[in-house]
Amino acid sequence: MAEARDPEGVTNERSTDSELFSSLFGGAPTHVARAPGRVNLMGEHIDYCDLAVLPMATQHEAQLQFRARDDGLVRITNQDPEFDPVEFELGPAIAPGSRGDWRNYLQAPANELARQFAIWRGLDGVLSSDIPVAAGLSSSTALVNAVGLALAEVNEVLLAPAQFAELMAEAEHYTGTRGGGMDQAIGFGARAGHAACIAFSPLRMRHVAVPEDWCFVVADTGVRAEKSGRAQGPYNQRRSECEEALDVVVQFALQHDRLPTRPRGYPDLLRMLGAAEVISLAEEALEARLLKRFRHVVTEADRVDQAVDCLLSADLAGFGTLMDASHGSLYADYQVSSRELDELVAIAREGGGAGARLTGAGFGGCIVTLADRGTVGAVLETLAEQYFEPRGMGDGIDDRLFVAVPSAGASVGNSVAAAGA
Ligand code: GLA
Repeated sequence: MAEARDPEGVTNERSTDSELFSSLFGGAPTHVARAPGRVNLMGEHIDYCDLAVLPMATQHEAQLQFRARDDGLVRITNQDPEFDPVEFELGPAIAPGSRGDWRNYLQAPANELARQFAIWRGLDGVLSSDIPVAAGLSSSTALVNAVGLALAEVNEVLLAPAQFAELMAEAEHYTGTRGGGMDQAIGFGARAGHAACIAFSPLRMRHVAVPEDWCFVVADTGVRAEKSGRAQGPYNQRRSECEEALDVVVQFALQHDRLPTRPRGYPDLLRMLGAAEVISLAEEALEARLLKRFRHVVTEADRVDQAVDCLLSADLAGFGTLMDASHGSLYADYQVSSRELDELVAIAREGGGAGARLTGAGFGGCIVTLADRGTVGAVLETLAEQYFEPRGMGDGIDDRLFVAVPSAGASVGNSVAAAGA
């Protein structure tokens, strides 16, 4: 995994952030923490089943320009006026704001770090982010990761990236969403030019180069899917259904002597019996809804293994076929797609995409489609003409329709503003 510290992290800062910092807090920020968004290429809704996933970090990121304080106060202002300034005291039991309040994503890492370490030093900070919000591109985890890194920096807490990622995954449960660990892991461990196959418990990461001529196009439906709002209930429900389905299948298998011992979770069960036998057991043991959820999890895990092979052998058509199958499963079995997501997927395919699927938690947000350099122009044009322009979403389209650049993980470094001050 990449180092969490970026020794050269002194370029590309948004100058207006330091101006705002100076007008709010006086002086200049000393440091900047950066945390990227991500697009998941394969393996949706299976990280919380401890099954491997295949995301990559994107060129979009949250940046926190900050300066340590001599007390435990944390004051953070967002460049985007949609989000109110946040102020809280550090401690291991910080009272959460109301559901959906963005302050929870800032308090989450503070609360967790204070629970684990004797941190006492707060900070003043200005935050900005160009990650589309509530679009399935991990805008909220980027906030958690950036604030976590900044607080660790000012309190001299040294953690390896994998440890940090696991801590921040735990931290984010503070917001009420029982997420898995994918977003935090790729957020800390990503490598430029690569996707990463991430396995859990314990966290492991295998970086896989994205072939030069592969373009992953991201297209945003424009329908927000707030993980701490509208999407939270259905998301948590899916996770509970997966846990229940596993319990029922394991119980059934033990009772019918189809398992020698109790597996520790999905990966263990799949290792013991193989996917085909596991699905046939589930068909006997589960009622219709749980069977659908379970089938998605097991088939999606298999698609991740195959997708890694396709990446390694630069098999674009094969990867595309897996994306289509993944979307079909998320639509029919996991039931997390939407009319707009299905429409974007269909248009992407019509425009020449090798395959397309919803990415992130679903219920709105984005799709990702794969094209080679020769066809990507046509894919982008078809999506623009058939989805965005007819809806009057042509202005600022670059934020909603772009080719994702496989980028590096989070880092903290000195602020340019401080260097120039
Ligand atoms: C959200 C969660 C992740 C993962 C995805 C769905 O992004 O934060 O942990 O479960 O949804 O794959």
